[in-house]
Amino acid sequence: MKKIIIAIDGYSSTGKSTVAKQLAKTLGYVYVDTGAMYRAVTLYAMRNNLITDNFFDKTKLVESLVNIQLKFQFNPEKGFAEIYLNGENVENEIRTLNVSNFVSQVATVPEVRKKQVEQQHLLGQEKGIVMDGRDIGTVVFPEAELKLFMTASAETRAQRRFDELKQKGEEVTYEDVFENVKSRDHIDSTRKDSPLIKAKDAVVIDNSALSLEEQFEKILSLAKNIIDQ
Ligand code: DC
Repeated sequence: MKKIIIAIDGYSSTGKSTVAKQLAKTLGYVYVDTGAMYRAVTLYAMRNNLITDNFFDKTKLVESLVNIQLKFQFNPEKGFAEIYLNGENVENEIRTLNVSNFVSQVATVPEVRKKQVEQQHLLGQEKGIVMDGRDIGTVVFPEAELKLFMTASAETRAQRRFDELKQKGEEVTYEDVFENVKSRDHIDSTRKDSPLIKAKDAVVIDNSALSLEEQFEKILSLAKNIIDQ
């Protein structure tokens, strides 16, 4: 069977990772969550006091990049690969609202992006991959056979993220999550290096009014049409 690259880009909390994981599992592909890489670098920066509410030492972070090793390791219980920062599983810690509040700033730094993109290229070398992020169809794999651009209203996305964080026991308000979603949309789509934009040949999936099943069926059939060609 032909192996392809599936690039899924879109705004935060559009359910990219849910659909990407499901797709990878169904097709027997590898799933790579590139947002997790930027989040892990952010966690490193936070732990080393390189970023706070009113301070960001970009130069020090760039110098520290040589000390940041990221790897993904498949967790059979969960059915997807978890991210490790210098050997430590940080899959849960990178999902807090605290990390979400700083990650877009960290992701604006060109040197940070360059290093992640290099690793992403290696991960996709053998194809048979579903990768989600903001610049996968435009910068990382402009030659990807299938590109999706996912979107939904900011309110729908904030509500989904709020429910998710609450379920994990995080003390957050809907207003804080809504502000975070809007601010990340703005930073992600206006930054100079690799902003979030729809690739010309990407298929737009607005899932505000689609159930998970409807969305998945639609995307799976797009993928199968290309794979079976
Ligand atoms: O997908 P996510 O919400 O976990 O991503 C976290 C942040 O990382 C997002 O606000 C922007 C950044 N990001 C990026 O700039 N490029 C990517 N390919 C993936 C994520």
